Amino acid sequence: MPIHEIRHPLIRHKLGLMRRGDLSTKNFREMSQEVAALLTYEATKDLPLEPHRIQGWCGEIGVEKLAGKKVTVVPILRAGIGMLDGVLTLIPGAKVSVVGIARDEETLLAHTYLERLVGELDQRLALIIDPMLATGGSMVAAIDMLKKAGCKSIRALVLVAAPPGIQAVQEAHPDVHIYTASIDSHLDENGYIVPGLGDAGDRIFGTR
Ligand code: PRP
Ligand code: URA
Repeated sequence: MPIHEIRHPLIRHKLGLMRRGDLSTKNFREMSQEVAALLTYEATKDLPLEPHRIQGWCGEIGVEKLAGKKVTVVPILRAGIGMLDGVLTLIPGAKVSVVGIARDEETLLAHTYLERLVGELDQRLALIIDPMLATGGSMVAAIDMLKKAGCKSIRALVLVAAPPGIQAVQEAHPDVHIYTASIDSHLDENGYIVPGLGDAGDRIFGTR
């Protein structure tokens, strides 16, 4: 099954703190980045390596380095920005592709307003980042965009995922693996994840 719920104790603890309604913007932001870094660690554990020779302190030795073109990280504006530094902490050489997708609050349909993708996408792994996978409309739109641009290898990193969103991604793009800190219960009548985190963009940018 291409859904990975990472039940690491550090993730469970941090996510528990993030669910507090009274958590400050500063702490919510910091923990978003920390959980994003921990998800990145899991989502990249099978990246290909290649042998490489270097001059070590005792002479020439064989080591390994990441093979192929650099990864591209793809934050979905705006809330995905709240995970970007966490991912880049572990993959500092990654290229950043930015996509702007907003969910209409009435219809819950995703509307794309920006596309700034890096080149050579056919040779890169793309890590799409967005804190919330609710109906899945935004994530499916982002994957559609990347595939249309030639990307062949895509993974999605989300802090919290709801069953309808997981199902939507799996139906539209069964090849895309999803890494999440939690599979939550359901969506409420306004399309918010329960128990979820509330409006992640507002909590990260302090606009609530
Ligand atoms: C939120 C969230 C996802 C989307 C999830 O963004 O960050 O992008 O909703 O919902 P979906 O799975 O039903 O599409 P929003 O559109 O509210 O914009 P924001 O990032 O500016 O807050
Ligand atoms: N977007 C959010 O920010 N939170 C949700 O619960 C659903 C969509």
